[in-house]
Formats: sequence, structure tokens, C-alpha cells
Amino acid sequence: MCRHFPKYALIFLLLALSGLIYLLHNIHKVENWNCHTISSLYQLQSRVQSSFIPVHLPTFYHNRTFCAHLGQKPSPEDELEEHYLLDLIAWPGPPSAPIALRQTSDPVHSLFTILPTERGREWHVGDQLEALVQMHDFQGRPKRYGGDFLVARLHSPELGASVVGEVLDHKNGFYSVLFPLIWEGPAQVEVTLVHSSEAVSVLRRLREERPDRVFFKSLFRLGFLSETTVCNMCLPPDQQPMCNYTDLHTGEPWYCYKPKMLSCDSRINHAKGGYLKNVITNKEALLFQRDVNIKVHIHPSGPDRIGVLPPRKDEGHTESSNIIPDPIKLEPSGYYYKDMWRPLGGITVRLFNGSSSVIQCLKNKVINMYGDSTVRQWFEYLVAIVPELKEFNLHSPKNIGPLMAIDSTHNILLKYRCHGPPIRFTTVMSSELRYISNELDGLSGGPDTVVVLSIWAHFSTFPVEVYIRRLRHIRRAIIHLLDRAPGTVIVIRSANLQALDQEVSLYNSDWYSLQLDKVLRAMFKGMNVLLVDAWQMSLAHHLPHALHPPPPIIKNMIDMFLSYVCPEKKKIHQK
Ligand SMILES: *[C@@H]1O[C@H](CO)[C@@H](O)[C@H](O)[C@H]1NC(C)=O
Ligand SMILES: *[C@@H]1O[C@H](CO)[C@@H](O)[C@H](O)[C@H]1NC(C)=O
Ligand SMILES: *[C@@H]1O[C@H](CO)[C@@H](O)[C@H](O)[C@H]1NC(C)=O
Repeated sequence: MCRHFPKYALIFLLLALSGLIYLLHNIHKVENWNCHTISSLYQLQSRVQSSFIPVHLPTFYHNRTFCAHLGQKPSPEDELEEHYLLDLIAWPGPPSAPIALRQTSDPVHSLFTILPTERGREWHVGDQLEALVQMHDFQGRPKRYGGDFLVARLHSPELGASVVGEVLDHKNGFYSVLFPLIWEGPAQVEVTLVHSSEAVSVLRRLREERPDRVFFKSLFRLGFLSETTVCNMCLPPDQQPMCNYTDLHTGEPWYCYKPKMLSCDSRINHAKGGYLKNVITNKEALLFQRDVNIKVHIHPSGPDRIGVLPPRKDEGHTESSNIIPDPIKLEPSGYYYKDMWRPLGGITVRLFNGSSSVIQCLKNKVINMYGDSTVRQWFEYLVAIVPELKEFNLHSPKNIGPLMAIDSTHNILLKYRCHGPPIRFTTVMSSELRYISNELDGLSGGPDTVVVLSIWAHFSTFPVEVYIRRLRHIRRAIIHLLDRAPGTVIVIRSANLQALDQEVSLYNSDWYSLQLDKVLRAMFKGMNVLLVDAWQMSLAHHLPHALHPPPPIIKNMIDMFLSYVCPEKKKIHQK
């Protein structure tokens, strides 16, 4: 047989074999690359150059709202709402002339003062406490314009009590902070500069012009061949052919550069690519220094503590529980007392201590959780405190999902799924990549269906229009769901504050979260949904800010959630 085997065929076979080895070797390289978290452009470029696939990051046009113009054009009504929402979150900026660091806001030189009331320094429950903040620069000169990002809380560690303050910007370097006085006893004011107005203006520019500062990638594979390309909400269209993954149902845009050899259909997964470095100048970097001008307390000019007396008897003051806070103005929506969150003007929170009280509440219910890792925390918390809720092994990655837990005895089903692109998780299979609104369209709903949403953290690097469009689709799906299945319970968890350093500030600052959160509050205002105010619950609390708030805060959120899902039945008086 061998005699008949031609010589050239052997050479051909050898060539083919060495080609295959080369190919396999490189596939290994590319897939390895896929497993790493790439933290810099340079790393990415050098890695990409060393692999045989000529992938490189696109050159974005760094002009205004490049991404927002992609995707479907909003209808005239949607456009009107968009203008209203953008007006609502308008933020005063510093003058456009270049400013030296010494002329920017310095928390150490700035001061706040508790203002006396008409009756002097005497406060009662039901009164309002006002503190006046005056900002100064690093030379100690008063600031003449607004736009500093301040947060404030009034607290009493002795009582486990705290409430956030509403900050009003007078746009002249002065800010008023207003606190409702809810508890009797000591109360201490704390004011924090999160970012100077000059830093906020850098963040705003990045948001409008550098949506590329977080990039994404997808792996494409067919047989032995695999390639990885760069993906985003928008890509410069003139640099390489693209794959268009725009969602046909919602019109939500998503693109990847087309792999050289594979088709767009061979996309396997979606992943965070990394964060670009060097998106700000050295001078701008001075505006983002930990312990200097990121989240630094402002000192009081006099006492920062008052004693709150019992309510005045002479005049009918409004019960604090009768105050309906305006969600858009970020007026206090609740407060901690004995470390337990008590919402103002809404539901009464009960404590769900043991697993039996949770089971009693969730019995016969399907709870669908959708969104980012901040709602996955709720899933994890419930599974941890209710041993009867057994997590079902779907063989999905732990931090990505989808996740499912079942208590078949009590007929409880708990599910979690992450939201669609631009989800910044490590690797989500393409087949598991879904938009929340499409998922909601697939629910039958009803009084035994609970929907929990949390979608904010992965939108901060994009212009706000992108978030508005996403929420518009979700809101439409919720309206349809409530129309076809009244009684469906909808809960939305708002954004929360997090630990900030320079790097985190540039892509995930609390300023971005606050802007998105105001949009969220406005877009769901007046709807039959519960807003769990994670913003105020994390701001008022004494524990440090964290992207994933610590268990005591989650417990308060879950108690509020369960109290809404299972309101206390009114006792019927029998004779
Ligand atoms: C951004 O700049 C590019 C190149 O200069 C231009 O083609 C594009 O139209 C600009 N886009 C917007 C939204 O201004
Ligand atoms: C991508 O597909 C969507 C939906 O088919 C379409 O509206 C959009 O124009 C496409 N984008 C590009 C850049 O071709
Ligand atoms: C839950 O625990 C708190 C404090 O530990 C207690 O005051 C309350 O009565 C408990 N509630 C229930 C329903 O067990």
C-alpha cells in the first residue's frame, strides 16, 4: 500500500500538520488572553500584536454624545421627555477658563455652620435643621461658583439614627443642607465633599466624549478557529467591518468588529475588555486625589451637634410619617432608627428575622431578579438566610448567572439574570445575553409574580441618553406587564454610593450614579412600583460606602422589599 503513496502527498501532509499545530498554538494564546482581565490599553495592544489576529482598539472621535446618536431615533414624545430629564439633571459647571489646582475647591479650607432657627438655638422634632456650607479653594479664598458635589447626613450613633440631607447649590460657593428632625436626642451634622466642581466637569466631559474608556470584547469560534474582537454600544464605523447585534425587539444597539475569518453568527460570548488608562491629563489628575479632594469631610465652623427636643405642643406640626418625600428632589425618603430603616410616607417596614418569616412571605411566589451585581446580592442574601431555598446548579459561573434557587416544599422559585450589554461582567455567554425588557415581555405575571430590578452601575461610562433609552424600554415592558397582569409586584433598587479613588472615579463615580439615579426616580415616579432607596440607605448609614453594601444595609433593603411584597394584613376587630 505504501508503495502507492506519492512522495508529494507526504510533504503536503507534513505542511498541513505544521499549519494545524501553528493554528492550535495561536488559538491557545487567544483564549488565554480571553481569561485575563486586561487593565491597560498597552497591555492589550502588545498582547493583541503578539497573537495572530490583528485586533486593535478603534480610534474614537472624541466629540459630544457620539454614542447617543446611534440606535433608533426617539419618537417626538420620547425626545421631549429626554429634554426634560436632561434639564432635571443639569449640573452647574465652573467657568470654562483653565483653572489651577490652587483655585479649585478644597474641603480643608471649606466650612459649614449650623444656622440658628427663628427662636435661636433650639430645635424640636418636626423642625428643619439648616446648615450653610461655604466652599473655599486651596489658597483659602471663597469660591464664587457652584457645582461642587456635596453629600450630607445627620446622625446619632447613640440612637443608631441617621438621615441624609438635601443639598441646595446657590451657585455662588454657598450650599444649604436641609435635614428633617425626626428623632429626639442628639444629632450631629456631617458634610462631605465627594468631588470639586472642577472634578465634576472633567467627569462630565469623559461621559460625553469618552464612552470608549471601558471597552468590551467577544470571542468568536467555529471548530478550531477562534478570534476575539472589540465590541461596544457604538464603534467608529469607518475603521473595520462590523457585526450588528442591535436587538430587533427593542432597537438597543450593540456592535462588534467582524472577525477576519469567522462570521458574525459565531459569537460565543461577551466580556468586559478593560479600562483605558490616561484618559485625563496630569493636571486633571490632581483633582482626583484620595484624602485631598475625593470624599473628604468638611469641618464645622462652630458646633456640629445639636440636641433635638420633643415635638412642640403649641402648634400642630406635621407628623414625619405624613411627609411624602419628592423622589426626584432627593428629599429624605427614610431614616435609620435603632439601625433599622424606616421609610417616610410610604410603607411600614417589618422585620423578617428568621427563615420562617421569609418563607411565610414568599410562599407560592416566583421572584425574578434582573440587573447588575447589586441585585445579585439580594439573591445571595436570601439564599444564605433561608436554608430551605436550595440553589439549583445551572452550571453557570457563580458571579454571572443565571442563578436559580428553589424551595419545592413551599413552592418558592427565586431567579437571577444579569442585564444585557453593556454589562461589564467577566464573561457572559452570548446565549445568556438578554435585555430586561424582553425578559419582562416573556412573563405572565400576576399577584404571585415578583420582579426586582437593579440597573445602573454599568451605564456610568455612557452619555445619559443611553440610560434613558434603556429605562424607557424597561418602563414600557413594566406598563404592559401591569396591564396584562395587574397585581404583579415590581420593585426597583436604586443606585448606591461606593468607595472612590482616582481610577474608580473616572468610570464609576458616585456623581455618575447620582445622575442616573435621578433619571431613574423621575422615569418611574407615580408608577405602581416600590423604589428601594439604596442611595439614601447607603449614604445615611455609618458603614463605609461600598459598591456592594455590607450585610446590615442589605438586611434593611430585604426587610423593606419583603414588607412591600407581604404587607401586614389589617387586623379585623371582632366583637
Ligand atoms: C465627530 O467627529 C467625527 C470626525 O471628526 C465626525 O465625522 C462626526 O460627525 C462627529 N460626530 C458628532 C456627533 O459630532
Ligand atoms: C443595525 O441594525 C439595526 C436593526 O436592523 C439597524 O436599524 C441599524 O441601522 C444597523 N446599524 C448599522 C450601523 O448598520
Ligand atoms: C426580630 O428581631 C428584633 C430584634 O432582634 C425583635 O425586636 C423583633 O421582635 C423580631 N421580630 C420577629 C418578627 O421575630
